[in-house]
Amino acid sequence: MANPAAGPGIPGRTSVPRAHRFRGSLGRFATGVAIVTFDGATKRHGITVNSFTSVSMDPPLVLASIARTAKAHDELAGRPFTVNILGAEQRQLAMHFAGRPGPEPKWVEGATAPRLSGVLAYFECRPWAAYDGGDHTLYLGEVVDFNHRSGDALAFANSAFTTIPESQLGIEDLL
Ligand SMILES: Cc1cc2nc3c(=O)[nH]c(=O)nc-3n(C[C@H](O)[C@H](O)[C@H](O)COP(=O)(O)O)c2cc1C
Repeated sequence: MANPAAGPGIPGRTSVPRAHRFRGSLGRFATGVAIVTFDGATKRHGITVNSFTSVSMDPPLVLASIARTAKAHDELAGRPFTVNILGAEQRQLAMHFAGRPGPEPKWVEGATAPRLSGVLAYFECRPWAAYDGGDHTLYLGEVVDFNHRSGDALAFANSAFTTIPESQLGIEDLL
C-alpha cells in the first residue's frame, strides 16, 4: 500500500478507517498551541499550529509544519515569521487563525515579523530552511528575538483544548 496511513482499518482490531486511527493515535501526543504570523506579499497572515518544535540551541532554531493546502503555505517561503505561543485564555485566538474568525486581534509590530499582543511567549524568526514534509512543509526559523510572560499554557490533545497550569511549566527562572 502506497500510503500506510490510508486504506482500510487494521484487521482484527477495529472497523475504524486507518487514516482516522492514524489521526487519533497522533492526537495522543499532547502539545501546546501556537500561531505563526508573518507579512505576505499583499496581506498579513496567521495560522494556528500545534506542530511547533524546538530544533536547535546553537544556532537557535524552531520549526512549524505547514499544510501545503493552507493559504499561508506558499507565502511563508523565504519570509520572516513569529511563532506566538498561546496562553490558556486564548482559545478564541487559536480558532480565529484556524478558519473561525472572530474580532480582529491586537498586533504588535515586531522588529523582524509581526506578532500578537498578550501571548504567553513568542519567537521572532528569520527564515532558515524549508524541507519537504509530504503534504506539509517543515519551515525552520532562526530565532532572533523572544520573550515570555507568566500564566497557564493552552494545550491540545485528542482534538480538544486543555490547560497546562503554570506550576507545571518551566523551571528556568529557578536555575
Ligand atoms: C489546534 C490546532 C492545531 C493546528 N495545527 C496545524 C499545523 O500544525 N499545521 C497546519 O498546517 N495546520 C494546522 N492547523 C489547521 C490550520 O490552523 C487551519 O487549517 C488553517 O488556519 C486554515 O487556514 P486557511 O483556510 O487560511 O488555509 C491546526 C488547527 C488547530 C485548531
